[in-house]
Amino acid sequence: MNQARLPIAVLVSGTGTNLQALIDQVHGREATIVAVASNVPDAPALKRAEKHGIPWAVFARKQYIDRQERDEAMAEWLGEHRAGLIVLAGFMELLSEQFLKRFPNSVVNVHPSLLPAYPGPHPIDDALADGAEEFGVTVHYVDAGIDTGPIIRQESVRLSGAKDPDQVLRRLRPIEHMLLPLVVKEIAEGRQSVAA
Ligand code: GRF
Repeated sequence: MNQARLPIAVLVSGTGTNLQALIDQVHGREATIVAVASNVPDAPALKRAEKHGIPWAVFARKQYIDRQERDEAMAEWLGEHRAGLIVLAGFMELLSEQFLKRFPNSVVNVHPSLLPAYPGPHPIDDALADGAEEFGVTVHYVDAGIDTGPIIRQESVRLSGAKDPDQVLRRLRPIEHMLLPLVVKEIAEGRQSVAA
């Protein structure tokens, strides 16, 4: 048994298929998911945490004066659960610099584009509007910018003539579900150097 599993927290906003991939592939092995936090009160992802007995909590913006205060409360809760790595798995809000300072070089994100191309909330639509034929997924460290932090791993797929965003997403999903757990395992095993 691995005595020194990395305690990770996963931040979600939606369906949580990436959370599920982490539960299935990493949880209880190289890492332990010690907490799941959502900014969306009824995010289906929370049911996945509940089902697996993982502590979860909601930190919705409107419960707090501003994002800073929300992030402070969330950081506090994640700290109480001893999270050593924070994984953004479809967490659809920016994190404050204060939050990032509390977990230096320890926040990673999965994004469905080949960054630095198409950052932001609509990467697939943006790529299609551009006539892109190569799509992909990036896992990167998070800094204060929008999808700008150092890239850890990328995987691409050529989809010539792609027009339908849902179809592209369907092709990218399995890549996300492979790449994010892989990077978390590598970090847990010390095989990824912490970004400068
Ligand atoms: C993923 O496509 C992720 O890359 C994006 O939001 C989606 C979240 O999906 N940022 P899920 O909640 O993990 O199913």
